[in-house]
Amino acid sequence: MWSNDAYVQMAAARVRQMTSNLPMAEKMRRGQEILEEAFKEIEECVLSFKAGYDILEGGRFDTLSLGCWGILAAEAGVPAVPQHIVAVLRMGDIIKDGLNPAKMGPIPVELPQEAERYAGVLRLDHIGPEVLKDSYSTRFTDRLQPGSLPVGAEMIDGTPHLVFDERIASSLLTYVGHAKSASIPVFWRPWVHSMQIEVPRPSYMGRQTDSWPLEWRVFVQAGEVAGISAYYFQAPAPNTPEIREIAGVVRHETEKLLDLLRARGIQPWHPRYIGQLDNDRLDFTIDFLTLPNGRPVLLEGGPTCFSPSIPMWGAHPCCFIGREDFRGLALAKDRPVVPLPEARPFAAASPAEEEQAEEGGPSP
Ligand SMILES: Nc1ncnc2c1ncn2[C@@H]1O[C@H](COP(=O)(O)OP(=O)(O)O)[C@@H](O)[C@H]1O
Ligand SMILES: [Mg+2]
Repeated sequence: MWSNDAYVQMAAARVRQMTSNLPMAEKMRRGQEILEEAFKEIEECVLSFKAGYDILEGGRFDTLSLGCWGILAAEAGVPAVPQHIVAVLRMGDIIKDGLNPAKMGPIPVELPQEAERYAGVLRLDHIGPEVLKDSYSTRFTDRLQPGSLPVGAEMIDGTPHLVFDERIASSLLTYVGHAKSASIPVFWRPWVHSMQIEVPRPSYMGRQTDSWPLEWRVFVQAGEVAGISAYYFQAPAPNTPEIREIAGVVRHETEKLLDLLRARGIQPWHPRYIGQLDNDRLDFTIDFLTLPNGRPVLLEGGPTCFSPSIPMWGAHPCCFIGREDFRGLALAKDRPVVPLPEARPFAAASPAEEEQAEEGGPSP
């Protein structure tokens, strides 16, 4: 698994290049030294990661951490999907005695009271379970009934557990390498109903249309909102004034977060940025979903995307895929990018409309 990793391959190619004209014994010694230096550099950066409320004092945090983004959103006054910690995994315990995280079983969780009233979802701090990436996830009608077992959970001996699938196992393997001292929270989040985009579906599949949530990915590069894309390119967003207005609010909410990051010297970061970006740039992506009343709410933050055409590692370029850069508003992958709308605050609807929007779940 590690040997297929582009990052590891790049490191190996570098060692090969730097030792190519050395005799074997010297090559081994020098190769070892280069690797040790590289790991030391990574470890130093990772150990300086902050987590929890400590990040509000400034410093680097893991840009994959949902927990950190949740704290920052609350501080910046950006509405976000609520999150409750329901379990904590300690990497030290997982790797102790040579325990292989890939062989770990389901993780017991303690659901909050809201889980009796609302449908919900479980996910680790840095990644959701495979089932969320399933293209049918947005249509899990059985799991989306209030009080049913959350998406990503299974019941074992009367206790709900986070399903330990391949996506979660392989993400933990990555963490074993660079965060031995980490505590990884598991979150329950209420399922938030979103504005839907209907797309035609071939009728032989038994339905006329598919419905996808209207979500957004913001590409922040060097501290600026460079581009915004509709998240699900299976469901292109129409280029209407309403849609552009929502994108303008997405931009506004992201700029609120950027103001906070700059004011406190907080930096979302990842060890894989080493050698690719200046160390003190603000580079990340951030995802929002749109409530039925048009209000964008923060779903999660993530790493930057290095290239819209060949993403080597990092965030998916969404509708920017195959283009030159991330500038502008990309509503569909096969339509031209339009100018980025001006940032604007959300214009609250009438109280009646707000109430209707909240029927499906708690208000973020
Ligand atoms: N609480 C939620 N309410 C509504 N939709 C959700 C929720 N959590 C996840 N989703 C849906 O599942 C997708 C993947 O979830 P996400 O939390 O982004 O994890 P990951 O990207 O690691 O799989 C989201 O883009 C969204 O469509
Ligand atoms: Mg996501």
